[in-house]
Amino acid sequence: MWHHPATQGNIATLQQRGHHLIPVGIGELASGLSGEGRMAEPEDIARYVGSALSPRYDLAGKSILITAGPTYEPIDPVRFIGNRSSGKMGVALAHAAAARGAQVTLILGPSSQPVHSNINLIRVETAREMHAVAQAHWPSQHAAILSAAVADYRPEFSFAEKIKKKGDASMTLELVQNPDIAAALGESKTARQLLIGFALETSDAEANALQKLHRKNFDCIVLNSMADPGAGFNTDTNKVTLFFKNNKRADFKLKAKQEVAEDILNALLELFNQSPLTP
Ligand code: CTP
Repeated sequence: MWHHPATQGNIATLQQRGHHLIPVGIGELASGLSGEGRMAEPEDIARYVGSALSPRYDLAGKSILITAGPTYEPIDPVRFIGNRSSGKMGVALAHAAAARGAQVTLILGPSSQPVHSNINLIRVETAREMHAVAQAHWPSQHAAILSAAVADYRPEFSFAEKIKKKGDASMTLELVQNPDIAAALGESKTARQLLIGFALETSDAEANALQKLHRKNFDCIVLNSMADPGAGFNTDTNKVTLFFKNNKRADFKLKAKQEVAEDILNALLELFNQSPLTP
């Protein structure tokens, strides 16, 4: 019932009108099935109502850049190379950061997620567009959180006309590498800026995440689990581990993406507080 398009459509309308959403619980359902859609636990409801009534403004004065969603790399006017990212995690981060007083610029790839009007939303389609907008905004930001699933490669040429079948049994597309937005921001990061990246791995998760943390000059990397049901792309929940530059790590349980967003922002706040240079 929770995933039914009618329910999701109504929820999206309510959120667009500025209503707060208390995330549903996960587990055994009245139907006998198991999944998302349980009534939230009373203590969670109390916590959400409490924080909605006395909001935290602990990110006031901070400008935060967030990249989110997939990128689409055109092959011809009707086809593209993309990925399964929904943009849900990045949009949840943007909403949570804005609710905590931050000035948020969200660079969003093709995504149908509703975005609140208090966010500076910049829609893009390709990795190169996302790269250009991110580079232009980065110097004025206190932090960036890079949750976008950027296509690493794009077709070398985008055909002006729809490609026709020519009776060939196979066809070859030449791909060229896209700019690495995270690495570019990491390279030009000043001592006053903080950078948080994401990693979604299917093998050697921890080693790969740590390698990306250092290679891209992140202060923290969020490792998404692909192994756990309910985590990763196109779900309302996520299970993450944060790795920090100073070798610290923090493991979290499977939670609603809104709650994961708060955990990531708490980590960012801690990094701001630890850094003597951040204004
Ligand atoms: N990222 C980016 N620009 C790219 C590729 C990745 O900004 N062209 C960012 C992602 O938003 C994420 C981090 O870099 O925060 C890691 O992304 P990931 O796709 O896991 O890393 P890659 O460097 O592409 O490594 P690989 O695909 O080889 O695992």
